[in-house]
Amino acid sequence: MIVKSQNDIPASEITDPLIFKQRRRIIKAMLATTIAGVGTSAVADDKSIGTNLPKGDFSGELLTPSPANLIKNYTNYYEFAFNKEDSTTLAQSLRIDPWSVEISGEVEKPGTYALEDVLRQQTLKEHIYRFRCVEAWSMVIPWVGFSLRDLLKSVKPLSTARFVKFTSVYQPEAMPRQRANAMLDWPYVEGLRIDEAMHPLTLLAVGMYGDFLPKQNGAPLRLVVPWKYGFKSIKAIVKIELLKTPPTTSWNKFSPGEYGFYANVNPSVAHPRWSQYSERQLGSGFFTPRRRTELFNGYGEQVASLYTDMDLRHFY
Ligand code: MTE
Repeated sequence: MIVKSQNDIPASEITDPLIFKQRRRIIKAMLATTIAGVGTSAVADDKSIGTNLPKGDFSGELLTPSPANLIKNYTNYYEFAFNKEDSTTLAQSLRIDPWSVEISGEVEKPGTYALEDVLRQQTLKEHIYRFRCVEAWSMVIPWVGFSLRDLLKSVKPLSTARFVKFTSVYQPEAMPRQRANAMLDWPYVEGLRIDEAMHPLTLLAVGMYGDFLPKQNGAPLRLVVPWKYGFKSIKAIVKIELLKTPPTTSWNKFSPGEYGFYANVNPSVAHPRWSQYSERQLGSGFFTPRRRTELFNGYGEQVASLYTDMDLRHFY
């Protein structure tokens, strides 16, 4: 992970309402500011962005982002399709402007917040994280976003808030699998325990590779929880609820024996149909050996303390 503090500029300082009236322009300016100083252009073409970004610090190891065109063209977005190519194309019909997020439940300041107002309060930073899918492939992605906890703190969670539920957009006219009522109960829902949600590694992302999030990767706002399997990182978030009890989540409801609520990356807990011991690193050379999967995806130093009293085999 890298955090470029010397380049952090609160969005409020760069958003002159007379100049930046439209959301895209505001975010674009913020992204450009975030990326400035990195030594690469925010609008460079995909091929060069992936390789020119600085290497991230990861458990003492340097992380090189996977090629951008790979992650943008190999997506899991089941509202659109069950394969990774069609979901990329079909997602272009999603309407993402205007966008707002409803925050409710155990908070002092519930409300429906326009995305541009949320972003005005936040400082965007770039974070290079490993991303490990439950399907046993992985990538390294330079996200642009802010810590979820900064947003949660701004709405003042009550002491009764113990879980956070996230809901994706319901847009059946654009999303063929929602229209067909296929597979999951729509909309897509995910959840975290409050201490997981408040962990500084847990991000809300609005960009990647120095630009907006592409629609297929969860625009305009998605969750990123780097020590958990990718299905926890819910896309196109429209609702965040703070709850007293654990929410029912989409994949856990669909197949509880395969997809646990916690979904922490764990090489010693196999999926019932395949091992999680190692992973295929997408974008690496043909002869690159599979990588041994690390507990908590390598973020154990930062997050293991959240789970000290838990049997991770039982709470998978
Ligand atoms: N969020 C929504 N709304 N719908 C989805 O189908 N797929 C999840 C997660 N978030 C999904 C989602 C899964 S299974 C993975 S692995 C990641 O998004 C994939 O993110 P990517 O397509 O940006 O690589």
